[in-house]
Amino acid sequence: MKLLKEKVLNEGIVLSDQVLKVDSFLNHQMDPILMKEVGREFTRRFEGEEITRVLTIESSGIAPGIMTALELEVPLIFARKQKSLTLREDILVEKVYSFTKQESNEITVAKKFMKPGDRVLIIDDFLANGEAAFGLARIVEQAGAEVVGIGIVIEKAFQPGGKLLKEKGYRVESLVRLAALKDGKVTFAEEEVN
Ligand code: G4P
Ligand code: NA
Ligand code: NA
Repeated sequence: MKLLKEKVLNEGIVLSDQVLKVDSFLNHQMDPILMKEVGREFTRRFEGEEITRVLTIESSGIAPGIMTALELEVPLIFARKQKSLTLREDILVEKVYSFTKQESNEITVAKKFMKPGDRVLIIDDFLANGEAAFGLARIVEQAGAEVVGIGIVIEKAFQPGGKLLKEKGYRVESLVRLAALKDGKVTFAEEEVN
């Protein structure tokens, strides 16, 4: 996605070989024009999939998630993160470990918002090790619903998440894929030349 690539190049800050800071358009200040395009692009890529719900995780997944849900005209659900939880009957719970933050969260979705028969598109801002995406997929499967695919705004293709998700049979659509963050510079993966 050209507009997104330009944003990454012009505004992304390479914090280390592992981390790209994008707080001017995605993680703190958000660019609504860009998010609108993101929603359109995911909708185009998943056309014909008869999606009934978009699922993301708070907080940075909500902007791309809501714009995609708006375009698809279906509800957006954002999973909530909690440190730990007393189990309750009316919620779906999965554990998600973050290598980046070295902490584990429980993510939850109310059962009433996801049912067998739902066709769910998972959206997130970043894909690194894939822990969040796998956790969201397990939530969908717990509900007896189906994961149609996983839409990612920025995939760090040098980390294993994308490969692992595809190996498990999930369709992953990333709007940009980063091959490396080296010497303060962003390199895009080969297939992202458009
Ligand atoms: P994973 O789900 O793919 O395994 O990723 P990981 O646990 O490492 O990600 C932890 C948090 O860090 C996530 O945000 C994720 O979006 C974010 N993240 C991972 N890599 C990068 C990066 O290179 N740049 C930026 N800006 N963020 C990255 P979160 O904790 O869920 O926070 P929130 O922003 O959604 O509230
Ligand atoms: Na996120
Ligand atoms: Na984030």
